[in-house]
Amino acid sequence: MRSFTVVAVLALSFCYVQAADEAAATKDAAAAAAAPAEGGKTYKRLIPADVLRDFPGMCFASTKCATFEPGQYWDLTPFCGRSTCVLSDDAQPRLLELVEDCGPLPLANDKCKLDTEKTNKTAPFPACCPTFTCEPGAKLEYPEIKTAPESTSEQSAKN
Ligand SMILES: *[C@@H]1O[C@H](CO)[C@@H](O)[C@H](O)[C@H]1NC(C)=O
Repeated sequence: MRSFTVVAVLALSFCYVQAADEAAATKDAAAAAAAPAEGGKTYKRLIPADVLRDFPGMCFASTKCATFEPGQYWDLTPFCGRSTCVLSDDAQPRLLELVEDCGPLPLANDKCKLDTEKTNKTAPFPACCPTFTCEPGAKLEYPEIKTAPESTSEQSAKN
């Protein structure tokens, strides 16, 4: 535990300058967060947010080494995805991280190819998600996803 705290403090001081940049960059991003990404299906899941002892009320983004306020989001580079800091509307609000990613790859299909022109792995989410083009009549199938039950509403009922 003690060594973890030391690491966290070191990481924080190391990335302090970067964090300041990120906060400025995401100010207008937060305003756009309400608008859903158009096209392509993406997958969302809610997980408990990482919270640093010295930054209560903020989500810690380990990929950015920065903290974000509820409503702000950040890119999960080098992964293709996006996380949003969310304050649950429970009686005792909890900080959650809404993680969005491209979801599972489609099942292998000879008639469909990765569209290398449309797929830009370095573009911000969701544009970095792979785009496939299929021969006429071919259709991609996706593996079934076991979606975790929405835990927030369930747990708020118990509280
Ligand atoms: C991919 O996206 C990045 C970031 O938006 C951009 O700088 C780059 O030019 C794009 N590349 C292509 C091939 O479109």
